[in-house]
Amino acid sequence: MHFRPLTAFLLLLANGPLVAQPAAGRSITLYSQRHYAVDRELFRQFEETTGIAVKVEQGDTEQLLQRLAEEGKHSPADLLITVDAGAIWEARERGLLQAADSPVLRTNVPSALRDAAGYWVALTKRPRVLVYHRERTRPEELPTYESLTEPAWHGRVAVRSSASAYNQTLLAGMIARIGEPEARNWAAGVVANFVRVPVGNDRTQIRAVADGQADVALVNAYYLGLMQNADQASVREQVANLAIVFPNQADRGTHVNLSVAALAKHSPRPDLAVRLLEFLTSEPAQTALAANNYEYPVNPRVVWPDNLQAWGRFKEDLLPPSSIGFYQAQARRLFAETGWP
Ligand SMILES: [Fe+2]
Repeated sequence: MHFRPLTAFLLLLANGPLVAQPAAGRSITLYSQRHYAVDRELFRQFEETTGIAVKVEQGDTEQLLQRLAEEGKHSPADLLITVDAGAIWEARERGLLQAADSPVLRTNVPSALRDAAGYWVALTKRPRVLVYHRERTRPEELPTYESLTEPAWHGRVAVRSSASAYNQTLLAGMIARIGEPEARNWAAGVVANFVRVPVGNDRTQIRAVADGQADVALVNAYYLGLMQNADQASVREQVANLAIVFPNQADRGTHVNLSVAALAKHSPRPDLAVRLLEFLTSEPAQTALAANNYEYPVNPRVVWPDNLQAWGRFKEDLLPPSSIGFYQAQARRLFAETGWP
């Protein structure tokens, strides 16, 4: 399956397949941080098979949580979907969620990837990896995240701003695993090796390696997958010689963040919302997320599609949203103290 995000978006505006249709009478509303073409295709399939329309409101963590808080019991939101584990912890801390109970969810998703009390369920796993150029670097030169702080990598490391939840969650995970002093040393060491002041998103960092401006990028793996399979031939060619290292395979494993869904506290249609969660964690939907968006399935019965098989199995460092959330504020402070803008 190949989707063209822009075309899909324009079609969405024109035909409104995700807009609740009053005639059908049954619709749910998502507050979602996700912004991927595969999601729109999955919602369309769900709508087609169940007759339940899916309306999506997008925003960043703060926008969505604030909106839920302000709307209170009048909120139209049924589900909150985040691209970061920490955000779901924060939503729960602010009292914006309710528990969902579903035997299907318990079958689809292993206990480590959902809340024991039902307050959240992971939709995908997203490793944060190192991307290098095959002609300039051997993967053995980048065994760990800590490699990025070595003198050999001075002026060669591309990474986005610490405003990104992906970086905050990575550092929060390090604080949990190796303690604050070591995590601080790591952040300071990466800052010392920046190729430039952080600019752009994860794709920008990958392009810097492709262009020869930088030699290693710290990014979420699916962005390389999306660029390697982009509709535009120029993008595919640009990244053709780039490859991935899953760091820290000899010790704690590669940091894995989660895209997470949760039932909103005042969901008007919790029964229908849970049906969407059951669909999104089912084998066909999980396969589509992996095959089209290069995210890792949470449903253990899913056979990895070829694109993930090609990257290979790896040891995961997976922390629950509660740990990530607990250390995220500390991570933001360490970024500020070490001058990572
Ligand atoms: Fe992303």
